[in-house]
Amino acid sequence: MINKNISLILAALGAVLILGGGWYIYRTRTEAYGKLITYTLPPLPYAYDALEPYIDTETMKIHHDKHHQAYINKLNAALKGHPEVRSIPLEELLKNLSKVPEEIRSAVRDNGGGTYNHSFFWLVMTPKSTKEPSGKIKELIDKQFGSFDEFKKQFNKAAVSVFGSGWAWLVLDEQGDLKVMTTANQDSPLSEGLVPLLTLDVWEHAYYLKHQNKRGEYIDAWWNVVNWEQVDKNYSQTQNTDDTEKTKETL
Ligand SMILES: [Fe+2]
Repeated sequence: MINKNISLILAALGAVLILGGGWYIYRTRTEAYGKLITYTLPPLPYAYDALEPYIDTETMKIHHDKHHQAYINKLNAALKGHPEVRSIPLEELLKNLSKVPEEIRSAVRDNGGGTYNHSFFWLVMTPKSTKEPSGKIKELIDKQFGSFDEFKKQFNKAAVSVFGSGWAWLVLDEQGDLKVMTTANQDSPLSEGLVPLLTLDVWEHAYYLKHQNKRGEYIDAWWNVVNWEQVDKNYSQTQNTDDTEKTKETL
């Protein structure tokens, strides 16, 4: 009887060692192949003071170095211990939140959204703004909104209307049409099947030091630093993807 129990214990120990060893090898291999993603803070594509006088240096420093970094740290912490999710690109996680394990879903939604949205936001600003759109995006804005001024009016109205903290967006919907929308907190249009083209962070941390409670003043200032070349590029990339998809379908 004692021998039988010892055998069972040894068998169980063996199973634990085999499974544990297998898991360790899997993780090590995954890391070795670079499939486990650890997010790091992307540097700003311009100096902290580059967007003066529209967005002040101190705000840019705190916004980028502290707020954006905090979302990244919390996202990495949430994904730690979930290699099956950690190997999936952030955009895919945000597009498929329902497939993220429930215990980390809201952390990925908030901090993954915060990570993605801020990275996107830095790129759609530049100290060398052309102030007005050009290229295909200009054609589409004129066609769908009637004029750039009318688009700005709708975007401003949306940005001002965000209750509490959130974002205003220009997105492309599933029909390929432009749409102005807002998201609450750090939610991403990706989670609604939409493609972001332009965004404005209207959390108070984005403007309070310079513009205090005057969000409208911040929005007016921000139009002076919009990177329209990047917005046009964001749109063109969606067209290239469509072309690729069409090519695939015809093969
Ligand atoms: Fe922000």
